[in-house]
Amino acid sequence: MARSALLNVMVQAALKAGKSLSRDFGEVQNLQVSVKGPGDFVSQADFRAEKIVREELLKSRPTYGFLGEEGEEIKGTDGAHRWIVDPLDGTTNFLHGIPQFAVSIALERNGEIVAGVVFNPATDELYTAEKGGGAFLNDRRIRVGARKVLSDCVIGCGMPHLGRGQHGKFLVELRHVMGEVSGVRRIGAAALDLAYVAAGRFDGFWEAQLNAWDIAAGILLIKEAGGFVSDMKGGQDMFENGTVLAGNEYIRKALEEVVNRPVPHA
Ligand code: IPD
Ligand code: CA
Ligand code: CA
Ligand code: CA
Repeated sequence: MARSALLNVMVQAALKAGKSLSRDFGEVQNLQVSVKGPGDFVSQADFRAEKIVREELLKSRPTYGFLGEEGEEIKGTDGAHRWIVDPLDGTTNFLHGIPQFAVSIALERNGEIVAGVVFNPATDELYTAEKGGGAFLNDRRIRVGARKVLSDCVIGCGMPHLGRGQHGKFLVELRHVMGEVSGVRRIGAAALDLAYVAAGRFDGFWEAQLNAWDIAAGILLIKEAGGFVSDMKGGQDMFENGTVLAGNEYIRKALEEVVNRPVPHA
């Protein structure tokens, strides 16, 4: 598997931030944590990891823009390129000692994601993709699942936490999906959820109220693994409306229908 120089820069940044996260994960009870809003936390580990990724990426490409979850967006002088970074996706898991979290780094070129890296330092799983070059888990090529009917499928989801609305809407979606599939899972880290779809671990996934940094790298992983990614209505406005629906092409229509099925009248 040959990686481009740019992808190598992204991988090195993810590995370095991953080391910092692993150290902090071992000392999680000593971390300073602040509250962004109800049920929404950020810790020293998030800030440290973002600093490492930002410095590594901008050292290598000083003119690119940088959008990270925990800092002010940096507008680059190169208007065509932007890094989109979640330094710690799955902060709630992390703070609870649950080893399901990741660094997510994507490179956008003229509005299109052209490279993506998702790294879970707790499991040492590194997902990478470049446009047109396929998707990989460590050195192994990955593809989305091949199950053709929803009743055989395991579908991942994300649910709104305290402080986010739309709990009722999500419960309707969940009830409809649960009635059609073999299992539903909730990992708690959207970047990993999408990587799981790319690796065929999940057959599909849906979630609303996401940000670009949660999904940018994962979107490319799935496309390069042969799957589909859309917003929940089937369009391509994932960043604009913050929703994602993903899976393999066989189940696309069925998953889209069940997630959007209207509430039955009483
Ligand atoms: C969160 C995780 C979670 C998702 C939330 C995200 P964070 O990201 O991806 O799975 O349900 O919507 O905000 O805050 O841990 O980086
Ligand atoms: Ca967060
Ligand atoms: Ca996130
Ligand atoms: Ca985060």
